[in-house]
Amino acid sequence: MSAGVWASLTALLLGACGEASKPARTIAGADPARGLEVVERVGCAACHAIPGIAWPQGRAGPPLEGFAARSMIAGRLPNQPEVLTAWLIDPPALSPDTGMPPSPISEAEARDIAAWLYTLDER
Ligand code: HEC
Repeated sequence: MSAGVWASLTALLLGACGEASKPARTIAGADPARGLEVVERVGCAACHAIPGIAWPQGRAGPPLEGFAARSMIAGRLPNQPEVLTAWLIDPPALSPDTGMPPSPISEAEARDIAAWLYTLDER
């Protein structure tokens, strides 16, 4: 590989790190309050402890409190709006051996949920 290619790869990697450590992420046109309604309707709490939902507090998946501060989704995908939206609709498409199943939600609903998840930054 030429020195030029290495230089641009390094720049890309450094850029990606800066991106991941930025705490606030925004999703144009998405509504966190609508996202929480979808979360309640779909029953994400069957598998996740979720701030604002008293019951159930499922344990199959990680608690979602503080999710906005995590740099990775499921420990292996970059926590960025586009990736998160795709994850919420069809996790096995991104991570074939994951324990989280696909959800019956539209792309717009997934974007609302992602916007809501990015409000969970208390810790
Ligand atoms: C059948 C159980 C189940 C349901 C239902 C479920 N999840 Fe999950 N979820 C999981 C599991 C298990 C993981 C861990 C996946 C992994 O590590 O591969 C996970 C991971 C996640 C993550 C990544 C968390 C992190 O800290 O990396 C988010 C965000 C998430 N789920 C949100 C949701 C939302 C929102 C819903 C509802 C639309 C939902 N989940 C429905 C089981 C579930």
